[in-house]
Amino acid sequence: MHNDIESIVLTKEQIEAACERLGKEITADYEGKLPLCVGILKGSILFMADLIKHIDTHVEMEFMDVSSYHGGTESTGEVKILKDLDVSVEGRDIIIIEDILETGTTLNAIVDLLKYRKANSIEIVTLLDKPMRRKVDIEAKYVGEKIPDDFVVGYGLDYQEKYRNLPYIGLLKEEVYTK
Ligand code: PRP
Ligand code: MN
Ligand code: MG
Repeated sequence: MHNDIESIVLTKEQIEAACERLGKEITADYEGKLPLCVGILKGSILFMADLIKHIDTHVEMEFMDVSSYHGGTESTGEVKILKDLDVSVEGRDIIIIEDILETGTTLNAIVDLLKYRKANSIEIVTLLDKPMRRKVDIEAKYVGEKIPDDFVVGYGLDYQEKYRNLPYIGLLKEEVYTK
């Protein structure tokens, strides 16, 4: 598995430091508010688990599953809701948790939906941001690291459902996805 990695983009230690920094910012911004943390399956689960340990105030957790990639390395621009939230977001302060923001198609669709459902506020926290890939006008308030447009895997991010369990984020060797 590790042999398929060309180089490391974010080490375990860098990820941990990002979680600590973002957790502190979120704690300061949401103290006394009981935000609803919405993790977007499946990519966000490792980041969500580590991040919320650094949020030092009450939060609730919910999940949504939407699809945009369909197993390849390119976004199709289509967003389908595979699993919806189990609770109402009306009047709630929502923190959407993502592993990566690329074209913005996924988050844009989710933000629109939560606005329509009358959330009080909606902010985004993403571990990785690829600003070069953006197709829709959307930004995350809390960003772990901005990265160039290379295909990365690990720490929740997959290639054909694999590599999510890598404890770091790395660049996949080209030979792995061209074979
Ligand atoms: C990936 C990633 C983000 C989204 C980013 O999820 O985890 O959710 O795509 O792309 P975008 O900004 O271009 O919309 P994916 O649909 O691959 O599902 P997964 O999290 O289950 O891997
Ligand atoms: Mn995802
Ligand atoms: Mg994926």
